[in-house]
Amino acid sequence: MNPFRSVGARLSFALAVVVAAALAIVYVALVPTLERRLVNAKVAQLRSAAPGLRTQLAEADLTSVDFVTNAAVSANARVVLFTPLTQSPRTLNVFADSLQGRNASDVENDPIALAASTSLAPRSGTVERGDERFAEAAVPVRSDGSVLLLTSSLHDALSYVHLVQRRLIAAGLIALVASVLLGFGAASVFARRIKRLERAADRIAGGDFLEPVVDHGSDELGELARAFDRMRARLARLDDARRAFIANASHELRTPLFSLGGFLELLQDEDLDPATRREFLTTMSEQVERLTKLATDLLDLSRLDAGRLRIDREPVELAPLAQLLVDEFSAVARAGGHPLEAIVEEDAVALADPERTVQIGRILVENALKHTPPGTPVRVVARAPAELAVEDEGSGIPESQVGEVFERFTRLDGALASGSGLGLAIASELADVMGGSIRLESESGTVFALVLPVAARDRLAIR
Ligand SMILES: Nc1ncnc2c1ncn2[C@@H]1O[C@H](COP(=O)(O)OP(=O)(O)OP(=O)(O)O)[C@@H](O)[C@H]1O
Ligand SMILES: [Mg+2]
Repeated sequence: MNPFRSVGARLSFALAVVVAAALAIVYVALVPTLERRLVNAKVAQLRSAAPGLRTQLAEADLTSVDFVTNAAVSANARVVLFTPLTQSPRTLNVFADSLQGRNASDVENDPIALAASTSLAPRSGTVERGDERFAEAAVPVRSDGSVLLLTSSLHDALSYVHLVQRRLIAAGLIALVASVLLGFGAASVFARRIKRLERAADRIAGGDFLEPVVDHGSDELGELARAFDRMRARLARLDDARRAFIANASHELRTPLFSLGGFLELLQDEDLDPATRREFLTTMSEQVERLTKLATDLLDLSRLDAGRLRIDREPVELAPLAQLLVDEFSAVARAGGHPLEAIVEEDAVALADPERTVQIGRILVENALKHTPPGTPVRVVARAPAELAVEDEGSGIPESQVGEVFERFTRLDGALASGSGLGLAIASELADVMGGSIRLESESGTVFALVLPVAARDRLAIR
């Protein structure tokens, strides 16, 4: 992967941009303001000292050069007294300068002093001399244009500003480096965790569901890892179920096929008497029936799994349906000595698929006839608002196995008849698809009740 497209590089870059922007804003907002404030404070200090000196000067002897020296001490600034040299254009002559040791020509044409002299009004501001900046305030002292100038170097104030400037830049560089390192560090921690998740996803995609996906973090990545692990566990269960289903289905298919093969071999024996031959053929046709039923059941289950089972939703009257089941199974019931009857409430109407409802009813009645001792009665009950129950008086289903009987290929130990163990699984999944459920009560005898969504009676009347 291009290292500049990694999360680490992007995070570091983003952090660096944020830090740089924040520092630039601080810099732009702080440094010029600080400089302006310091310069203004100095100028204001000189401006406020100037009028007092002018008053003192008016009282002093103008020829006294000592005045400027004393004034410089009290104002803490260089003090220069100018007298006009020419009137138009106005030029000034340095009359006295507190900085006598220095060449006074450096202030000769001082613009602030000139402005004060021409306008005969106080003036202040900053000027550049050589490579230094000065704060200045000038006041006219006489109407002839003589001017008193206070000038003070801004060197200290500006070097303080430069110090702040340098510190800010240094702090900025440190923050930038720290943000880049922090970005890379944090991202590499996340990248490691993401990589682990990626490996786990690849493992799961490759069909290995054994190793759990572990991340103990309480953040979003931790949540993601836990969601992954739930997915892994579910896929593992589904995979187990799929394997078990295939193994069970092949076993169920093999048994009757194996038996059919055996009978075919026996039938090839020419010495068989007609009675045995007939008996073999009867058993063979039973096995073929069993295979056909199994194939149909497996097809139903695969359609249910794929969600491809077409389900109609229409009002279904349960009373005639209960009667239909009783009629259909009357012969089988008689053969097993089971009294079979329908008990119906006429206003039991469900919103369901009629075909599928009958299919569930058949599964339940067949079980009640098959898994109970001969001679015990079986009732098919249509109960309002929308319940179809099959009740028997057999030995019942042990409490501990009540949940299991709805699972695929489940047959209880000691079951009276053999089957594939698919009937109840299909029934409960069909009921579920129709928005209903199957309730099982097993105390003395067993009741399987299909509870369906209720259909409004008036809808039935319209049909
Ligand atoms: N009415 C009942 N009384 C007692 N046991 C029952 C009853 N109905 C079902 N069972 C038990 O539940 C098991 C599962 O029933 P299910 O209908 O799913 O399978 P099956 O009848 O064995 O086979 P299939 O219906 O696929 O031919 C049965 O094997 C039986 O042990
Ligand atoms: Mg059954």
